[in-house]
Amino acid sequence: KNISIIGVPMDLGQMRRGVDMGPSAIRYAGVIERLEDLGYAIKDLGDIKIGQAERVHKDRDTNLRNLKAVVEASKTLAAKVDDVIEGGDFPLIFGGDHSIAIGTLAGVSPHYENLGVIWYDAHGDLNTADTSPSGNIHGMPLAVSLGLGHEDLLDIGHDRVKIKPENVVLIGARSLDEGERELIKEKGIKVYTMHEIDRLGMAKVMEDAIDYLKEKTDGVHLSLDLDGLDPSDAPGVGTPVLGGISYRESHLAMEMLEESGLVTSAEFVEVNPILDEKNKTATVAVALMGSLFGEKLL
Ligand code: ARG
Ligand code: MN
Ligand code: MN
Ligand code: MN
Repeated sequence: KNISIIGVPMDLGQMRRGVDMGPSAIRYAGVIERLEDLGYAIKDLGDIKIGQAERVHKDRDTNLRNLKAVVEASKTLAAKVDDVIEGGDFPLIFGGDHSIAIGTLAGVSPHYENLGVIWYDAHGDLNTADTSPSGNIHGMPLAVSLGLGHEDLLDIGHDRVKIKPENVVLIGARSLDEGERELIKEKGIKVYTMHEIDRLGMAKVMEDAIDYLKEKTDGVHLSLDLDGLDPSDAPGVGTPVLGGISYRESHLAMEMLEESGLVTSAEFVEVNPILDEKNKTATVAVALMGSLFGEKLL
């Protein structure tokens, strides 16, 4: 049982500074000791290098902020993730803003015939350059991975399409832009919004999500945006949305994923220590990783 950790101090996919310190905050919250105590051998591969932010956004044929630097970092990350999987380790990635999922999925997807993705997030991250209200690439990684978006973002990795819409499950959605809603309907993407979580309970939602992915996938990537949790439990995020998943529900979700044995790679993103309260959000991230990797009380 080996886990390789990759830090991605990316803050170019959105506009709040500080999320580049996410990987340090997560390490500082004791992740390595925590996972070692569960019997894993941990290799910390350190942080990948991120380029500079554009001083002014002058690329007129796209409204995508910092496109070049995001593409470069995504390629580096994809190659690292690919190496980790080839070496037989479990890749565990720390963000950084959610744009890093573009690189992560580009590295993971060639290793599977039918990669499943669990997108644990307040948002859909299903915007394209045409539908994005912000121009922020962290609102686009799921669309990009489905093969929709700017050419340069699709060009990363082996194939333009990394995942199939029927292999994706969104959990915790409560803020979707118009174009994202249309895309969800058009592609028939499975979404458990906060309404379903409230109505059915997290246990039933996870049971269904696991059943849905189990038969048709040969690996599942967990992309966990800390803003999927309620801001009272995870305040250190750049785009908080009220009415989110609780700390307790999130632990249950991670425990059920662990029991399922489905998850083959994972990333924890959008931890922003500058916006946080005494590193609470990184601490929550590490606690959830504990459950995801099999921590038990008794
Ligand atoms: N939908 C909004 C946008 O496109 C917010 C995206 C937030 N994404 C995130 N990974 N926190 O700008
Ligand atoms: Mn390869
Ligand atoms: Mn989000
Ligand atoms: Mn996100």
